[in-house]
Amino acid sequence: MPDPFPPWFFDRADPSPDPVFYGPPRLVTHIDDRAIAAVGALYTELDVDGEVLDLMSSWISHFERPPRRLVGLGMNAAELAANPMMAEHVVHDLNTDPVLPFADASFDGVVCCVSVDYLVEPVAVFREVARVLRPGGRFVTTFSNRCFPTKAIRGWVATDDGQHLQIVSAYFALAGGFGEVTGLRRTPPGPGDPLYAVWAART
Ligand SMILES: C[S@@+](CC[C@H](N)C(=O)[O-])C[C@H]1O[C@@H](n2cnc3c(N)ncnc32)[C@H](O)[C@@H]1O
Repeated sequence: MPDPFPPWFFDRADPSPDPVFYGPPRLVTHIDDRAIAAVGALYTELDVDGEVLDLMSSWISHFERPPRRLVGLGMNAAELAANPMMAEHVVHDLNTDPVLPFADASFDGVVCCVSVDYLVEPVAVFREVARVLRPGGRFVTTFSNRCFPTKAIRGWVATDDGQHLQIVSAYFALAGGFGEVTGLRRTPPGPGDPLYAVWAART
């Protein structure tokens, strides 16, 4: 698949190192309760369990039932330490090093909630997710229509929700190693934060 993204797409309004922005802990929720419930329901429906990596995670991982062993990767040690579901966590800046600090085929599932828009090398990260997933394991990404606009890539800020589904689907296709990609809205129309999901299984 040819690269569909123009060169400016992965620039950001705030190009300063991510540890600066993510240094202060934010023990907040980034989407409303209905959207959080939609994330948990999707994880249950897709049976995301076993050894699971929560990529770009914080103090809350949204599972209805915690997976057997949850590992978190994010930018803020205090946020990750406050996560009650996490067995272990690692602070790792994916925008300076997209290589995941885990062995091949070490997870049954990987999730990434309301964070995919901050990746400046998303295809490299998605390729790494395929590497650390066991065959059949799913990578489940979810997002809404809010973000930290100065830290999100310009291509995300310049596009709408429907295009975001296409953008994340393209990341999966460009990365390779994944089967059929599913992308859709998980919350009904109406007030509140919409929740969109794009996922695929490791081939
Ligand atoms: C909007 S918060 C979402 C947190 C959590 N996934 C949730 O659902 O509440 C964005 C998260 O992306 C993580 N993040 C941002 N830039 C990152 C980077 N360069 N490398 C790794 N994680 C990053 C931050 O640590 C932060 O926890």
